Amino acid sequence: MSFSFSQENLEKIAALKKRYPSPKALCLPCLWLVQYQEGYISLDAIDAISEQTTIPPMEVYRVATFYTMFHLEKREKLQVDVCKTLSCKLCGADDILQHLESKDVTINHVECLGSCGTAPVMQINDKNYENLTIEKVESILEELL
Ligand code: FES
Repeated sequence: MSFSFSQENLEKIAALKKRYPSPKALCLPCLWLVQYQEGYISLDAIDAISEQTTIPPMEVYRVATFYTMFHLEKREKLQVDVCKTLSCKLCGADDILQHLESKDVTINHVECLGSCGTAPVMQINDKNYENLTIEKVESILEELL
């Protein structure tokens, strides 16, 4: 399987190159562009990022594997990141988790999603869903599944 940046993403990269003095700074934005375009980051995409940034492929790979938000394999089921940190736990994250376990989704237990004031929180496709209740989770999943 091969990878090519979409024309839109090539234009975004060209704009980013003007903004960042060092090509190394393009690594994270390029990883995000790939993930938004394909849903995951393949080895071919890492080569494409390397070509765009002049960063060696192994270095791009190390960055991609360091951050848990980047996915190096295609994910079939809807990925639901559920915060398991204190505020969310105190506000009912365990009930949300228990409810999600009966659904056809992949649950990822994650640390604080930065929205403790609106706990409990889950994240799907980089969007936070806050002040969760079982009913709210049901309605969100109905929309997405
Ligand atoms: S503790 Fe859950 S968002 Fe911070």
